[in-house]
Amino acid sequence: MAKTRANFVCQSCGAVSNRWQGRCEACNDWNSIAEEGAASGIGAMAARAAVKGRTFTLEGLGGQSKAAPRVVSGMGELDRVTGGGFVPGSVILLGGEPGIGKSTLLIQACAALAGQGHRVVYISGEEAVAQVRLRAERLGLAGAPVELAAETSVEDIIATLQQGRTPALVIIDSIQTMWTQSVDSTPGTVTQVRGSAQALIRYAKTSGASVILVGHVTKDGQIAGPRVVEHMVDAVVSFEGEGGHQFRILRAVKNRFGPTDEIGVFEMTGLGLAEVANPSALFLSGRDAAAPGAAVFAGMEGTRPVLVEIQALVAPSTLGTPRRAVVGWDTSRLAMILAVLEAHAGLRLGQHDVYLNVAGGMRVSEPAADLAAAAALVSSLTGAILPADAVYFGEIALSGSVRPVVHSALRLKEAAKLGFNSAVTPAETAEINARSPMRQASCAHIASLVADIAASGARLKRAAE
Ligand code: TYD
Ligand code: MG
Repeated sequence: MAKTRANFVCQSCGAVSNRWQGRCEACNDWNSIAEEGAASGIGAMAARAAVKGRTFTLEGLGGQSKAAPRVVSGMGELDRVTGGGFVPGSVILLGGEPGIGKSTLLIQACAALAGQGHRVVYISGEEAVAQVRLRAERLGLAGAPVELAAETSVEDIIATLQQGRTPALVIIDSIQTMWTQSVDSTPGTVTQVRGSAQALIRYAKTSGASVILVGHVTKDGQIAGPRVVEHMVDAVVSFEGEGGHQFRILRAVKNRFGPTDEIGVFEMTGLGLAEVANPSALFLSGRDAAAPGAAVFAGMEGTRPVLVEIQALVAPSTLGTPRRAVVGWDTSRLAMILAVLEAHAGLRLGQHDVYLNVAGGMRVSEPAADLAAAAALVSSLTGAILPADAVYFGEIALSGSVRPVVHSALRLKEAAKLGFNSAVTPAETAEINARSPMRQASCAHIASLVADIAASGARLKRAAE
């Protein structure tokens, strides 16, 4: 008989090595290797004798399956992100920085569902029952029939949940505080988090209850603990917000049952989270339209148009290597726009510090924001104020040409709704939307954008004299 010896398995990627190392050679994670029995880890099965499996029937793609009805919370912004309500038997991981409002959001969702007659259970591993009650009272939800407990043992939780009617929704706040006896390691470790998540996912799949696991996020935006939890669950939703701003954005990062580009917008008030039905108005509030360096971008978040202000500051630098700082947008995207402006529009930015900010703490990831960013940069550099009633969208190619983007009609409609009269868009967009009430200035090349802004700046200067 072969001698059984211990294996060293990386807890992050599952790679097996035969000695302990400080760093996993496969995924370069530090301190992730732990000793396990020889019968575990990737590749361990091959070492065992082949096991004869049972056969099962294969089915066609077009067969009939009963679609389970979704559990709709009634909070429009939350249902939008989940793809139209919670899917029975699914598990959602809700990530977010401490204090962002995860517990508040979930207690509100619980109360809304319980009010509809669903059984809802809220398990807190962080706060005592009294604390959760106190919060519910402040939110005016104390009367909702939500079942509460402060527990951390996964086995006890599952045993309790299996009694009585299957809950429609179970909240585990948070997965990092849970521990399971099936795993032989101390609570709070990566192995414990993974083991607890596995047990709770198994519970969700077998019982048909929807489970939400709360996960804390580290400063660099990763859900603390193993990344493996992220691929074990059906959906990963993150709750984000900028310090100092009242509003919070709920964003689907992964969703097996819906689109991943939808966002839900909430505002943190003294009475909990309020849904924001019209985010554009919120993001544009407090706008100083009479200052150079600000352009309004007509963006899309999933199926919803959202207008945000992009602010730029271009100032002569005293440093050898000028500063480039970006908040809410991609740094390499800014570098690209600056390079295109230098190469194809003749601007000299090499001696200037450049700062770019998406107002209100919003994060923009669409290439369609290129044109608005470029307009803000040129406006700041030349000191020419952009028209207050104009929006911008379009993708800039490395050649300097401005390319069309999707959903132009929706973007124009939203801008018109918010009182904007004109749009600077790619040439093709103007043709497609010829009947839009918006005045459209088509912009085929970055050089014409720069020329237009410079000319309007000169006109304004002459008018002022
Ligand atoms: P919480 O939901 O406890 O955050 P998390 O669970 O993500 O750690 O929210 C805590 C913050 O929310 C706290 O700083 C206070 C604020 N808050 C309000 O502003 N209004 C409210 O009605 C509530 C309940 C909380
Ligand atoms: Mg909390």
